[in-house]
Amino acid sequence: MEKVLNIKKETVQPKQRKIVSKLFWQGSPYDIVFDAEQIQEKLKRTDLPCYVMKDFRGRIGVANGGALVAEGRGLEVLAMTPPMKPEQLGDASFRADYNLKYCYKTGAMANGIASEALVIAIGKAGFLGSFGAAGLVPKRVEQAIDTIQANLPTQSYAFNLIHSPNEPALEFGAVDLFLKKGVHVVEASAFLALSENIVWYRVAGLSQDAEGNIVTQNKVIAKISRSEVATPFLKPAPDDFLKSLLEKGRITPLQAQLAKQVPMADDITCEADSGGHTDNRALTALLPSIIRLRDKMQSEYQFKKPVRVGAAGGISTPESALAAFSMGAAYVVTGSVNQACVEAGTSEHVRQLLQTVASTDVIMAPASDMFEMGVELQVLKRGTMFGPRAKKLYDYYSRYQSIDDIPADEREKLEKQIFRQSLEAVWQGCIEFFQERDPAQIEHAKGNPKRKMALIFRWYLGLSSNWANAGTEDRKLDYQIWCGPSMGAFNDWVIGTDLEPYQNRKVAVVAERIMQDAAVLWRLNALKMQGVNLARV
Ligand SMILES: Cc1cc2nc3c(=O)[nH]c(=O)nc-3n(C[C@H](O)[C@H](O)[C@H](O)COP(=O)(O)O)c2cc1C
Repeated sequence: MEKVLNIKKETVQPKQRKIVSKLFWQGSPYDIVFDAEQIQEKLKRTDLPCYVMKDFRGRIGVANGGALVAEGRGLEVLAMTPPMKPEQLGDASFRADYNLKYCYKTGAMANGIASEALVIAIGKAGFLGSFGAAGLVPKRVEQAIDTIQANLPTQSYAFNLIHSPNEPALEFGAVDLFLKKGVHVVEASAFLALSENIVWYRVAGLSQDAEGNIVTQNKVIAKISRSEVATPFLKPAPDDFLKSLLEKGRITPLQAQLAKQVPMADDITCEADSGGHTDNRALTALLPSIIRLRDKMQSEYQFKKPVRVGAAGGISTPESALAAFSMGAAYVVTGSVNQACVEAGTSEHVRQLLQTVASTDVIMAPASDMFEMGVELQVLKRGTMFGPRAKKLYDYYSRYQSIDDIPADEREKLEKQIFRQSLEAVWQGCIEFFQERDPAQIEHAKGNPKRKMALIFRWYLGLSSNWANAGTEDRKLDYQIWCGPSMGAFNDWVIGTDLEPYQNRKVAVVAERIMQDAAVLWRLNALKMQGVNLARV
């Protein structure tokens, strides 16, 4: 037997294969179109291949059907692209896990700007929406959970779990509520490190199925903009939190055991230069680094299911979505563009303003929630004075130890121009506000004038976004409108289309259009790389 095999090896020659350098198209002449608009229609049939040929008169034509042959009669094929449906963009497991049509998610927008209506509309269309729970009292969040659960009985949805280092009671309350109400997907954001609350949410959802596989019922989509923040989400939950949660009876010993075999997050969203909180990173620099970090952690931990990496920040057009997918993003997340949509929980004035902005009409300004730490977020510059006014407040906070240190004339100006009342009156307002929300805040400020000053200044920073959402007439110049450069890019893209007027902007239509056109663009790019540059219509 050995001998026979040896003889065969020596005598059998590999079959000669002819390399095909040219392909010819055969089919009905009615299948080929030559007109730019008709060519675009062929490219838009993303479920079919596209063949580009030159006919006998030298015209460039495109067909979706027909047959290709290596030899014989027919039109020479200059370039071709396979089908590329929008469904194919991104990671199929993201679609499967969240039961989605496309790998597309809308990000949370605080104070219910990412409203129930927005999450329901996007969920019904087969995308994943995240409710803007940040800044809302638990009662309001609970209402939103009830409404969304009643309207999306089988579809997916997420709630934002925002890290609140200044108001830990809020973060605890949110997790408690999500667990009680069966919210199974959270978009975790603003975490500088893991907290016991997020570990609790993740681990309290762990169980084993009949085959012994780990089931992660509570999904975490962590939004990050730097690798040191991403790292703990790419690892299992830390032992000290597990120990503490076990002692408090919040997780079972089995859950603590299972927690060592799964990462803290199912998905990591890389947030580049965006509206709201942002590190202003370039997606092209951030995403590849985070994907490499994920690969490194995966090879170290060998999780059964690797963490997926998605992209956010600057995505509002087919080009930006395709760029993210081309870099390996498992899914894309949009934000700013959704605020201009009819379902967003904001005012008509804001929507109208957003329709007019260019990508340069944005500015960084102090953030209310992390004001004392000097954290900034990205807001609209056009049509509002919020940016410069908020910066002025941070400047006072940095220079003085107490509101009483502010020189009288400057204090008077502040009271007149920004607060429209005395700082002491604002302080009374703060006391009333925190009574319901987090009374410990007032306790901490007693005997700590700098903290009191921070709370007073945060009154303006907090209310200014409420004024924008509510459309408060006499506060238009103080509107705080979180917005990134992607808003302007979207406005440029939709000029002259039905989406130019903000009244026509619906979140699901915007999502569908971005994804459909990204797939078409993929095909145009594929043809371009083969030497055929078809015009975009
Ligand atoms: C008005 C507004 C409010 C936002 N609020 C939150 C928030 O509360 N929590 C959060 O995780 N992200 C928040 N974001 C970020 C978005 O979820 C999303 O990640 C980001 O906007 C994507 O970048 P883009 O603005 O360039 O589209 C907010 C963004 C905007 C525009």
